[in-house]
Amino acid sequence: MTTALYPGSFDPITFGHIDVIGRAAGVFGRLVVGVLVNPRKSPMLDLEERMAAIREAVADELGELSERIEVAGFDGLTVDYAQQIGAAFIVRGLRAVSDFETELQMAHTNRKLAPSVDTVFFMTALEHAYLSSSLVKEIAAFGGDVSRMVPAAAARRLQR
Ligand code: PNS
Repeated sequence: MTTALYPGSFDPITFGHIDVIGRAAGVFGRLVVGVLVNPRKSPMLDLEERMAAIREAVADELGELSERIEVAGFDGLTVDYAQQIGAAFIVRGLRAVSDFETELQMAHTNRKLAPSVDTVFFMTALEHAYLSSSLVKEIAAFGGDVSRMVPAAAARRLQR
C-alpha cells in the first residue's frame, strides 16, 4: 500500500483542502494529513482543534474514502516526518499559477533533502480555487459568514 503525506497548517481546513484530500485518497492507499505543530504564523486554532476539525470534516464530506485517511500532528521537517511514517510522496494542492513558485521551491528543496520522497500536485477544483485559510481567518475575525468556505466542523470552531 502506497502512503502519501499531505502536510499543511490547516488553520483552518477549507473546502479546497478537503477537495485535495479526496483526490489524493482516491490515488493513494493511505493518506496521512500532517498538521504542522508550529506554523510560522501563530495559529488561530490550536493543534487539537485543527486536527479535530479535519477528522470531522473528512468523515462528513468524504464517505468511504475517509477509511484511508489519518490525521496527525507533526513538528520539524516535512521530509523527516514523511520518512518516519513511510510516505514516499508528499501531496500539495495547486489553486492557481500564483501558488506555483512557492510550491516549486518547496518541492525541489524537499527533494534535495530527501531524494526518495517525491512531491505530487493535485489541482484544486475551480470552485474552491479562490479559497485561502488566511482570508477565512480574517473574515471570521470580523464576524463574517465562512460557512461556504470551510466545513461546518471548522466554522463552528472559528466562531468560538
Ligand atoms: O498550509 P501551508 O502553510 O501552506 O503548509 C506549509 C508547510 C507546512 C507544508 C511547510 O511550511 C513545511 O513543510 N513546513 C515544515 C518545515 C519544513 O519542512 N520546511 C522546509 C520546506 S521546503
